[in-house]
Amino acid sequence: MTPDPAAQAEAPDPAAPAASPGGPRRRGFLKALSLAIGAVLSAAMAVPVLRYVLFPARARTVDSGDEPIAVADEGAVRAGGPPVRAEIVAAAQRDGWAKGGPARLGACWLVRAPDGAIRAFTAACPHLGCAVEWDAGAGKFRCPCHASAFGVGGDREWGPAKRGLDPLDVRVEGGRILVRFRRFAADRARRAPI
Ligand code: FES
Repeated sequence: MTPDPAAQAEAPDPAAPAASPGGPRRRGFLKALSLAIGAVLSAAMAVPVLRYVLFPARARTVDSGDEPIAVADEGAVRAGGPPVRAEIVAAAQRDGWAKGGPARLGACWLVRAPDGAIRAFTAACPHLGCAVEWDAGAGKFRCPCHASAFGVGGDREWGPAKRGLDPLDVRVEGGRILVRFRRFAADRARRAPI
């Protein structure tokens, strides 16, 4: 008698290996485990990369600008003497990932007040930022751009400037005058650091 082909197709192959009872569940578990390990490794590698890429967004553009900077010897600013102009130069500058050498931030005028204390004013005119100069004959600071004038104490005397010269924090250490550099919004009556 000829064997039934349908019955033959459904009959188990005696030579085939026996199927594992937990096969599909085990494969699913291993797949999930490998995905989880891959995710953890990717996250671990992403942290330093993101920190490197985002570093400039979190970093200050200019280092040392917030720190007091030595600008002159105390002895250079004499009581009753003329104001002394000094450059404000940061020791280091950072721009994004790059770190460079000294960077000029601006300039200031140093004045010995009647009480002997040293005062510092930014040299930028509070009108539109031109550099003010000391007029020894008139005993005033003058701005060459639009003729604003300021007294030796920085007070506004005339011109389009809406306020007096902007004072900077100053202190003396070891015979050196240290100034904390600041920029201020221009052309405003109210002083606003920027
Ligand atoms: S910038 Fe000084 S008066 Fe205009």
